[in-house]
Amino acid sequence: MKDFKFNIDYVREQFPCLCKTVNGNAAAFLDGPGGTQVPVRVVNKINDYLYYRNANAHGAYKTSQESDKIYWEAREVFADFLNCSPEEVVFGENTSTNNFKLALGLVRTMKAGDEVLVTDLDHEGNRSPWRTLQDFGIVVKSAKVHPETCTLDFEDFKSKLSNKTKVVAVNWASNACGTITDVKKCIDEAHKYGALTVVDAVHYAPHKWIDVKEINTDFLLCSAYKFFGPHIGILYVKKEIGEKVKSIRVMANDNTDMPFKFETGTPAMELAAGAAEAVEFIADIGRKHEEFFTEGLRGLSGRRRYIVAGMMAIDAYEEPMAKRLRTELSKIEGLKIYGPPEGHPRTSTVSFTLDGVNANEIAKFLGEKGIFVWDGDFYAIEIVNNVLKLEEQGGLLRIGLAPYNTEEEITRTIEAVKDFCKIQEKLSLATN
Ligand SMILES: Cc1ncc(COP(=O)(O)O)c(C=O)c1O
Repeated sequence: MKDFKFNIDYVREQFPCLCKTVNGNAAAFLDGPGGTQVPVRVVNKINDYLYYRNANAHGAYKTSQESDKIYWEAREVFADFLNCSPEEVVFGENTSTNNFKLALGLVRTMKAGDEVLVTDLDHEGNRSPWRTLQDFGIVVKSAKVHPETCTLDFEDFKSKLSNKTKVVAVNWASNACGTITDVKKCIDEAHKYGALTVVDAVHYAPHKWIDVKEINTDFLLCSAYKFFGPHIGILYVKKEIGEKVKSIRVMANDNTDMPFKFETGTPAMELAAGAAEAVEFIADIGRKHEEFFTEGLRGLSGRRRYIVAGMMAIDAYEEPMAKRLRTELSKIEGLKIYGPPEGHPRTSTVSFTLDGVNANEIAKFLGEKGIFVWDGDFYAIEIVNNVLKLEEQGGLLRIGLAPYNTEEEITRTIEAVKDFCKIQEKLSLATN
C-alpha cells in the first residue's frame, strides 16, 4: 500500500454536530459503537423523501411509485454493501427486532428438543431472541469465551453442535471489547450439522467490509445507525434459504416472495433511503482513497468497489489510533484493557477498567471535558457481567472510534484519563 493519508477534512465537514462544545472543549464523539453521528446528506435524503415522495407502497400514483423505486434502490445499495442480490436485503426496525422476528419465524418449523447455539460473547440482540425459543421447548446452549482474551472458545463451540442444532447465532465483532471472531469457521462447522447460521454484524459493519458470500452465512444482521445512517436494521437472507423457511408477517403463509416475506408491515421507506445514503457516503470515502488499496480491490467494480475501498480506508485510519490508545492507556497503573492479544483481529473499540473505580465515574469525568464515551455492559451482558464479572464496578469504559475522530482527540482522551487517575491518587492519599 502506498503511503496512506486519510482525508479527514472531507469526512469531518459532513457532520454538523462536530461543532458542539462542552465547557469550552470541542466535543469528541467517541461513542461510535453506541451509534455514530449522521452526515447532512443522509438527513437531506430522509427529508426529501418525507417532503416530496411520502406515500404507501404499491399505489397507482406518482409518489407511491417513487416510493417503491426509492425503496428498491435502497435494497440495491445494501446488496452492494453486503455482496448479495437486492432480493436478499430485508429492512426492519433494528437488529434486535429483526432477530426476534426471524427467531419467531424459524421456530414455526422446529420441534421441542431441537437446539439453538448462541455465544457468551454476543450482545443480547443476538441472544435474547433465541433464548425466547425456550418457551417453545427449544434447548438453547451458549458457547463459552476465554475470559483472559475475550475470544470465543472454539472447542466449546464445536462440542455444543449436534444433529439437533437447528440455528447457530454468532457475533462477528464484540461491541464490548472489539474481538473479531472467525465466523467463517463457525459457519462451516454449523453447516456440517445442517444448522442455519445467523451472524450479528452490528459492530463489525462500521469497521470492516462485509462479504456474505465469502462467509457463506444464511442470515446476517446490521444496523444503519452504527454507520452514519438513521435507526433502521438490515437483515440479509440467503435467497434459497429464505424461500424455504417460514417467517412472520401479515398473511405469512400466503406470502412466499423474497424479500417481502420477512417484512412485517409498511416499511420505513424514508429510513431505508437514509440508510442507503449512508452507504453512498462510505462509497464516496472509497472514491477518495481507492488509490491506496488497488491490490485489495482487484476484481471489484462499480459501487461495491468504492464501498469496500471506503471501509478499507476507515479501517486503515482508525486502527493506528486504536493501537495508540491501547498502548498508552495500558501504561497507566491499575488500568486493564480487555480484548484479544495484539495481532488477533479486532475493531478500533478500546475497553478498559481502572482498579477500584466505577466505570461510570470515568465516563462522567470525560463527559465534562467533552469526551463522549460509554460505560457499563452495553447489553453484552453475558461477557461483561457474568464472564468478566464486572457488574459491581460498573462494567467497562468503552472508547469507540469512528472516521470523524482525530489524533488530537485521542491525545486529549489519553491525557484526560491520566488526569482522572492523578485526581484519584490525590483523593486516596488525602483519605489515608
Ligand atoms: C453487537 C451488537 N449486536 C446487536 C445490537 C442491537 O442492535 P439494535 O440496537 O439495532 O437492535 C447492538 C447494539 O448496540 C450491538 O452492538
